[in-house]
Amino acid sequence: MDIYKNSKDLRKRIDQYKQEGKRIGFFPTMGALHAGHMRLLHAAQKSCDIVVSSIFVNPTQFNNPDDLAKYPRTLPADLLLLQTEGCDVVYTPDRDDVYADEQSFSLDLKGLDSVLEGSSRPGHFDGVARVVKLLFEKVQPDVAYFGLKDFQQCMVIRQLVEQLEMPIQLQWVETSREDSGLARSSRNVRLSDAQRNAAAVIYRALQHCKANYSFPQIAQLEKEAIRLIEAEGFTVDYFQIVESENLQPNTASLKEPVALTAVYAGEVRLIDNLIL
Ligand code: PAJ
Repeated sequence: MDIYKNSKDLRKRIDQYKQEGKRIGFFPTMGALHAGHMRLLHAAQKSCDIVVSSIFVNPTQFNNPDDLAKYPRTLPADLLLLQTEGCDVVYTPDRDDVYADEQSFSLDLKGLDSVLEGSSRPGHFDGVARVVKLLFEKVQPDVAYFGLKDFQQCMVIRQLVEQLEMPIQLQWVETSREDSGLARSSRNVRLSDAQRNAAAVIYRALQHCKANYSFPQIAQLEKEAIRLIEAEGFTVDYFQIVESENLQPNTASLKEPVALTAVYAGEVRLIDNLIL
């Protein structure tokens, strides 16, 4: 596995692969890798010749400095895992290498950035769009892989690629869950054992919505889901059922309803979602 801290060296290697006609798959990460990230790697291995990953804890997408400071950083273990699983290339830059040549650009996120995660974390999706654009420019993949665990992020990336007409195919990957149903997340290591067990309620609440979904009853279902989660001692930041394409709670019946939630377990913020 080749590891590059510098995007110029990374580009040279990728250019070689491109000259050899290789199809390049890419999945960006912030490290603290787990089986959820490995799903993206395995999906990329299925349809690409060369798989590139990146590990970069992107400061511009954290609106809370404490969250950034506490974000787990486990680079040696991450590299070992990627190598064991057969990743070909990893980009592990510092902030300067990512942002040094940034060109300003404008993007209309069509309100996707102001609801749900966006309303609780102002500026978060601007930071995500900025860094993903820069990473795409450096890696120039044929296909990029993102987890549905971050459903709203997938919708934002789709706007980015469409509006900037980037020649990159996007592929979404199903959420990987612990046996209890809890979505795998780098933040789960910050939960106590008791919190981690109890947090299985988040997926149960989502499944309750899927099992009982009917259009006019949405507000009632949202209330029931919140009650279930709060009964475990967690604080619900939001639990909403919306249209998947625009993340709006339409008044006409929803074509593809998705339930999305963010929950505080103590000071740890957990997100999850389920298409209903
Ligand atoms: P990070 O949280 O490290 O996630 C990297 C990728 O792994 C994302 O596409 C995310 O959706 C996916 N992922 C995380 N947990 C998953 C799970 N349980 N099942 C399936 N996929 C999962 O998302 C980011 O980093 C950053 O915002 C990034 C896109 C790298 C930009 O900085």
